Amino acid sequence: MRIAFAAQSLPSKGALVVGLDESGKLSASAADLDKKTGGAIRRAVAASRFKGKKGEIRDILAPPKLNNSRILIVGLGNPKDLSEADVEDVGGGVLAKLQESGEKDAGWLVDPLGKGGAMDLADFAAHLAFGAHLRSYSFDKYRTKDGNDKKPKLAKVSFLCDGAAAARRAYQDMDKVAAGVFLTRDLVSEPANVIFPASFAERAKTLTDLGLKVQVLGEKEMTKLGMGALLGVGQGSQHDSKILVMRWDGAPDAKGEDKRPVAFVGKGVTFDTGGISIKPAGGMEDMKWDMGGAGVVAGLMCALASRKAKVNVVGLCGLVENMPSGTAQRPGDVVTSMSGQTIEVINTDAEGRLVLADVLWYTQEKYNPRAIVDLATLTGAIIISLGHEHAGIFGNDDSLCEELTAAGKAVGEHVWRLPLGPEYDKQIDSPIADMKNVGSGRAGGSITAAQFLQRFIRNDTPWVHIDIAGVAWSSKDKPTVPKGGTGFGVRLLDRLVRDNYEPQ
Ligand code: BES
Ligand code: MN
Ligand code: ZN
Repeated sequence: MRIAFAAQSLPSKGALVVGLDESGKLSASAADLDKKTGGAIRRAVAASRFKGKKGEIRDILAPPKLNNSRILIVGLGNPKDLSEADVEDVGGGVLAKLQESGEKDAGWLVDPLGKGGAMDLADFAAHLAFGAHLRSYSFDKYRTKDGNDKKPKLAKVSFLCDGAAAARRAYQDMDKVAAGVFLTRDLVSEPANVIFPASFAERAKTLTDLGLKVQVLGEKEMTKLGMGALLGVGQGSQHDSKILVMRWDGAPDAKGEDKRPVAFVGKGVTFDTGGISIKPAGGMEDMKWDMGGAGVVAGLMCALASRKAKVNVVGLCGLVENMPSGTAQRPGDVVTSMSGQTIEVINTDAEGRLVLADVLWYTQEKYNPRAIVDLATLTGAIIISLGHEHAGIFGNDDSLCEELTAAGKAVGEHVWRLPLGPEYDKQIDSPIADMKNVGSGRAGGSITAAQFLQRFIRNDTPWVHIDIAGVAWSSKDKPTVPKGGTGFGVRLLDRLVRDNYEPQ
């Protein structure tokens, strides 16, 4: 779908969209439309008890005296307390309505926000467009039959406002971030017969067009590096394990601390059967998105490179398939990680932490990052604690956790911090090795998983682990996120980087 910005003029066909806040006053465009339709706007508002609440939508079909198919009136709430995320939600909500109506073309008459409005016209139009664009995503490459309403027809939405050039400029970076979000959604939505370690890495190689440096480590190199924890997880699969490394050197002239890269590490289990500790059949298909952390890292690198972020960043993905087979690792096996620490593998389904252990260690050894953030669909337990509305975060650095929380609020991808501590850490001591890969019971399962990761973090590296198991996939539509792969994390980390690691 195309997004355009143009000067205000009334399109002669297609759908029209106009916003109305809760003051009850018509904006200039709404008043003009009302006049041109012989009062249809005011009558529709009165007849449908429209209050102008944020996201409320009314549909005027075949408006009188115009050739347009419909006018959508959308509520903007109180212009004083509209956040960027609120505006994006409004844009997304309208987009969904246009799609389900089968419209091809729409023109949105965007007026400046009413008295005390929280943002200027250019930003307002740009965020409306961003929300609409994010919602327009659909993963339909495997739908071969036409004739149903599943494939959206909407081809173009134009945002019509004064100073369209400024709005277009404000939108530019958002469009690039959306490209990253869409890449993540694609990777997460693909089935595991299409996306496996090698094919994931191949897709990432197309990002070199953006100026990213991409490198792939194979099993030979990982064996040499002593990555027994990661390799153990992949050893039951026909697919070779890989580590994907993506570098964006956006601040080549930076000095001192600013020169060191920020590192992002993703769990990329392209399918998680559980291994010999096999999962039940019901719902196992969901485990195609167990590479969601890696998907976010790839999408984030795409976003940062596309918008030419002025920062040095490295993104690493641990790519493996967790299968049961004659060569698979067994419960009770002891593996030696790259760090030298040994791990007793009690449950082969607690595989993500084994993968991350080696990738986290490698990242610190090789890149000496100024901060490290890992993302993983790590535990079912995080869904029990936080549901689908927050990702869980764990970390050794209060400021980094606070920065991440603030970034989440700004973009509407919310995170919630959970504790770490020695009493939890004790639970992963093993009687025969340095540690075991699960806690003593199910209690606090997300925390004991994070404790395990922390054993592979050097004390002086600021680190945050984000457990995205509850948010990587959505079974229901949300304003800017159609159901399916969400891309949660790309916008969050793009914002973290923008606000804290780039020159302001
Ligand atoms: N990939 C799963 C976690 C998961 C579960 C993600 C549901 C998304 C939805 C992870 O590898 C796993 O299997 N974790 C186990 C850990 C347990 C064996 C300690 C879990 O959460 O049950
Ligand atoms: Mn598992
Ligand atoms: Zn897993």
